[in-house]
Amino acid sequence: EKGGYDYFMLKEIAEQPKAVADTLLGRIDAAGSLTLDEVRISASELREVDKVVIVACGTAFHAGLIAKYAIEHWTRIPCEVELASEFRYRDPILGPRSLVIAISQSGETMDTLMALRHAREQGSKVLAICNTNGSTIPRESDAVLYTHAGPEVAVASTKAFLTQLVACYLVALYLGQVRGTKWGDEISAVIRDLSHISGEVERVLETMEPVRALARSLAGKNTVLFLGRHVGYPVALEGALKLKELAYMHAEGFAAGELKHGPIALIEEDLPVVVVVPSPRGRSVIHDKIVSNIQEIRARGARTIVIAEEGDEAVVPYADHLIRIPATPTLLQPLVATVPLQVFACELATARGNEVDQPRNLAKSVTVE
Ligand code: F6R
Repeated sequence: EKGGYDYFMLKEIAEQPKAVADTLLGRIDAAGSLTLDEVRISASELREVDKVVIVACGTAFHAGLIAKYAIEHWTRIPCEVELASEFRYRDPILGPRSLVIAISQSGETMDTLMALRHAREQGSKVLAICNTNGSTIPRESDAVLYTHAGPEVAVASTKAFLTQLVACYLVALYLGQVRGTKWGDEISAVIRDLSHISGEVERVLETMEPVRALARSLAGKNTVLFLGRHVGYPVALEGALKLKELAYMHAEGFAAGELKHGPIALIEEDLPVVVVVPSPRGRSVIHDKIVSNIQEIRARGARTIVIAEEGDEAVVPYADHLIRIPATPTLLQPLVATVPLQVFACELATARGNEVDQPRNLAKSVTVE
């Protein structure tokens, strides 16, 4: 049932192109417009939405952090993202015009379920993004958008994460469409790019051997840091989470702009630092800033592991290890940038002799608060 792979996690990483394609399937029609028939909140209700609040835990929370960039950019609706376990204990401001999005692979995470119940008690509409048909979270929501990742067995989430991102992009585009905000050339371009993205994920998977070799060479390290900016920041958090849970190593993700406000003190000789570099096209200011961050940490002795777009030559002089990913629009980059981090964590865990599919102390579905 592992389909020839040593671990479910390896199989699930390899299944990502299909998972992404399946989640997009049938949701964009020939005319390029979106139909989400599982969303049973009326268009007029969606037009009234004045705030989006995303609640989730762990990896699903990271998908939510990325969704915020897309939702605010494409729809101009303010969007908050909150850890489900924190949400209802702080008396959040919610009302009938708030749209709460609960993201959960299992659909059974108690923290997320309690957050959505709280939101519904306040009269808010809840949309679930979920991978498990008929589970509790979608059953208790007003609308559901299922991710079609197929069953995810490994405790560490991989393919579910990529499909959560796809679902979030679809929701953002759909909101943009029904509200008529920014609906036009940019949105059609995004839809076109999304329809190619599964092939790009496939291309990343074909080039992972150097990442595996690098991971094995770092098996004796104690700490790895991850830096990113814009949507690369949640990707850095996700890379660090994967490494913690699988390799049991100290791993932290930072927003690269925060380095000088503290974390740069952690940099020491030969410390591996993974940097997720945004596209040099588009948001080139951010790109240039992150290149100087890489220079700074390298000057202080860090071993820089740079994830950058094909054709980005500016990073080459400062990268001790360079991992190439295909060029994608900035907002979609997490779909390709996360994959090397999953492979990296999985291989490092294996090299350290850890049980990849069943990390210590963790359960696939956390049904207690
Ligand atoms: C990390 C991981 C967890 C889950 C979190 C939420 O690899 O798997 O952080 O993402 O427990 O689970 P779901 O998505 O089932 O609500």
